[in-house]
Amino acid sequence: MVVNYTQALRAEFFDITRPGASAQELAAHARHIEDGLLFLNGGTVTGLMPWEEGRSQLLHDGDYLDFRGRLIIPGFVDTHLHYPQTEMIGAYGEQLLEWLQAYTFPVEGQYVSHDHAARMSAFFLSQLLSNGTTTALVFGTVHPQSVNALFSAAERVGMRMIAGKVMMDRNAPDYLTETPEQSYRQTRDLILRWHRRGRLNYALTPRFAPTSSPELLGAVQKLREEFPDTWLHTHLSENSDEVAWVKSLWPEHDSYLGVYHHYNLTGRRSVFAHGIHLQECEWDCLHRTDSSLAFCPTSNLFLGSGLFNLKKCREKGVRMGIGTDVGAGTTFNMLQTLAEAYKVAQLQSYRLCASEAFYHATLGGAHALDLDDKIGNFQTGKEADFVVLDPAVTALQKLRYANSRDIYERLFMLMTLGDDRNIWQTWVDGKCVWRRDALEVAV
Ligand code: GUN
Ligand code: ZN
Repeated sequence: MVVNYTQALRAEFFDITRPGASAQELAAHARHIEDGLLFLNGGTVTGLMPWEEGRSQLLHDGDYLDFRGRLIIPGFVDTHLHYPQTEMIGAYGEQLLEWLQAYTFPVEGQYVSHDHAARMSAFFLSQLLSNGTTTALVFGTVHPQSVNALFSAAERVGMRMIAGKVMMDRNAPDYLTETPEQSYRQTRDLILRWHRRGRLNYALTPRFAPTSSPELLGAVQKLREEFPDTWLHTHLSENSDEVAWVKSLWPEHDSYLGVYHHYNLTGRRSVFAHGIHLQECEWDCLHRTDSSLAFCPTSNLFLGSGLFNLKKCREKGVRMGIGTDVGAGTTFNMLQTLAEAYKVAQLQSYRLCASEAFYHATLGGAHALDLDDKIGNFQTGKEADFVVLDPAVTALQKLRYANSRDIYERLFMLMTLGDDRNIWQTWVDGKCVWRRDALEVAV
C-alpha cells in the first residue's frame, strides 16, 4: 500500500480509535505510538503508523517534520462556550440567575457593534487555538452581527465550528430581546448564509427555557423542521433556582427537558449544557432521543451550580462532551478543564482515568456533536486537526514526567498539572495555525 501525502510528522502519538461505552472499552481502543509517523494529504489524515513501518513510505530520507520529544493528540473539542463572555470571565460573587443579570447581559449588549464583535472574535479564536481547541460549539449574542463576525473569523482560519445567534424574547433586558418573528427571520438568514459553508455549521440557539416564550420555541421548532441537519444548542438544568423558575414558567410540562422535548428540540444533534439536576425521566429522554450533554466542570464549580453525574451519564448511555462554558467557566484550556472534571467525579466516587478523560475531550466531544466521522482521532480520512503537546514544560512537570511509568501516568500528569504552556503547536486542516515559540496565531 502506498500512502499519499503532502506532509509527514514524526512524534509520539495518542488517540482513541473508537467511541466506547465504558472506561474499559475506551482503554481497549486507546492507541499509543511512541515513535510514529503521521501522514497528511492537504487537510486529510492519510495514515498513522510506527516509524519503522512508515519510513518506507517517505519519498526520500528526511522528508518529515521531526517532532520527537513532543506528543501529538487530536485537537480538543469544546462542546459548549460563549464567545461574547470572554471579557467578563471570572466575574465575582454570583450564582447563575444573578450572574446573568449583573454581568452577562450588559457585556453581551456590546455586541450590537460589529466592530466590537469582530475584534472579540479574533481574540476568542486566538484563545481557542492557543489552548489546542480546534472545534467548538459556540453561543453568540442575540445580534446577527455577532455570528457574522465569528463565522467570518473562523472561516479565515479554516476552523471547524458550530455557532448560532441567541434567540430570546422574555426575562432579559429590552436591548437583548426580540420578537419570535424577528428571531425566526434573522436565524433563517444566518442559516442560509453560513450552515454547511466549508467547515462551518449552524446551531439553533435559544438561550434557555426561562428566556423563551412558547411562541419563540415554536419558531425554533419550525426552523428545525425546515433545516433538519442544523444543531440545537441550549442550557438545561444547571442551577436549582433556575429549575424551580422553569417549573413556574412552564407548569404544564413535567420536567425542564420536557419543555424542549415538547417542541421536538431533543435529538441526535441537540446539545444541552449542564444537566446537573435532572430527574430520572429526563435522563431516559436524553438517552431515548440520542441527545447530548455538555459537562462544564469549571463553570459548575465557579457558579456553585452543582456536580455533574458523570457515572450516571455513562450508565445511561447519554452522549457527552466537555465544555469550558467560558465566561462562567474559568479557562479556555481543556487540560485544566479535565483536572476539574476529575475532581467533580472524585467527589462522587467515580474515577475518571486519563484515557476516558482524553476521550471526552476529543473523540467523545466529536461524538456528542455528531462529528465523529470527521474529527476526533487519526483515522485515515479524518480531518487533520491536532495539537502538538510539549509533555513537560515546568520544573514540577519535568520531575513528575520523569517519575511516570507509562503514557497513562503522563497523560494524567498533563491533565492535573498542565495548562496552555503545554500547547506547543495547534494544527487545523493540515496547517499549523498556532506556534508557542512564535506566540502567533493565524487569525
Ligand atoms: N443559562 C442561560 N444563559 C446562560 C449563560 O450565559 N451561561 C450559563 N452558564 N448558563 C446560562
Ligand atoms: Zn453556557
